[in-house]
Amino acid sequence: MPAIHHNGALEAALKATSSAVERILTPILHKPSGLEARVVEAMHYAVFSGGKRLRPFLVLASSELFDVDRKRALRVAAAIECVHCYSLVHDDLPAMDDDDLRRGKPTVHIKYDEATAILAGDALLTLAFEILSAPETHDDPNVRLELVSALAKASGYQGMVGGQMIDLMAADYELDQAAVCRLQQMKTGALISFSVEAGAIMGHASTSARASLQGYARDLGLAFQVADDLLDAEGSIEATGKAVGKDAAAGKATLVSIMGLERAKQQANMLTDQAIDHLSGFDDRASLLRAVAHFAINRHT
Ligand code: IPE
Ligand code: IPE
Ligand code: MG
Ligand code: MG
Ligand code: MG
Repeated sequence: MPAIHHNGALEAALKATSSAVERILTPILHKPSGLEARVVEAMHYAVFSGGKRLRPFLVLASSELFDVDRKRALRVAAAIECVHCYSLVHDDLPAMDDDDLRRGKPTVHIKYDEATAILAGDALLTLAFEILSAPETHDDPNVRLELVSALAKASGYQGMVGGQMIDLMAADYELDQAAVCRLQQMKTGALISFSVEAGAIMGHASTSARASLQGYARDLGLAFQVADDLLDAEGSIEATGKAVGKDAAAGKATLVSIMGLERAKQQANMLTDQAIDHLSGFDDRASLLRAVAHFAINRHT
């Protein structure tokens, strides 16, 4: 079965991505000697705490489709992981989800303090743009500008931040299925879409290749968040490394709360198949993107 072959290859590729991204970020997150060292320590703690590195993986996999230089792709991978880790640090704050555990370790505001966690998140966000805008990321300044612009849009009120706002509002407003999908596309889908799009931006991909990847990323992002919601409903703290059962307790609108467990699982499967269908125009080079779509919904962490 090709699926078995892909899973082995996928696991190896995910591991290779983690170590490569960590190698890039280690010197960048080098501790300065002044009193500001505390915030850099907290940034380091937030980033070097495990994590699947799914977004970096997507950057590398989409870059491979267009023969993008791996060193450049890795810098974009590092930048998106900084934004993702910032989003988690702020998501866990008492004012938001109020979580004590992330990736099996105390959250940043528990390990340090709230003010440090806010600052570490802020600095991870801006660091991402510093990385993208540096000449080592791409020799074409227009490409760098396009990356900066796309990540800014995906991170801000039209993307992740906007989705987080709706997510918080959803405790007081009744959201229907379409509204929940929109919320999830914003809070989670936007950064996933950026990751997939990054390879196409760096590789000057054709309009039709970009459209296919956009379709893939949209379905993948949704499937990924449905899987996160399923893990919250059915997973364990040991496997996920974070508290579970919180969405229901907080009265959060998710596809699980709207459709129930079984239909949400069917939906995740359908979205995965749909995501993979968008890749039909690519050859074997898209096999890791196909495999990671299965991983997105079959994972336990
Ligand atoms: C968790 O993301 C938050 C969501 C957007 C669902 P991940 O499941 O990718 O978290 P890590 O990076 O592997 O810890
Ligand atoms: C968070 O969604 C998505 C972000 C933008 C950080 P959740 O609040 O469901 O993520 P977890 O379950 O805490 O990882
Ligand atoms: Mg949240
Ligand atoms: Mg949360
Ligand atoms: Mg969750």
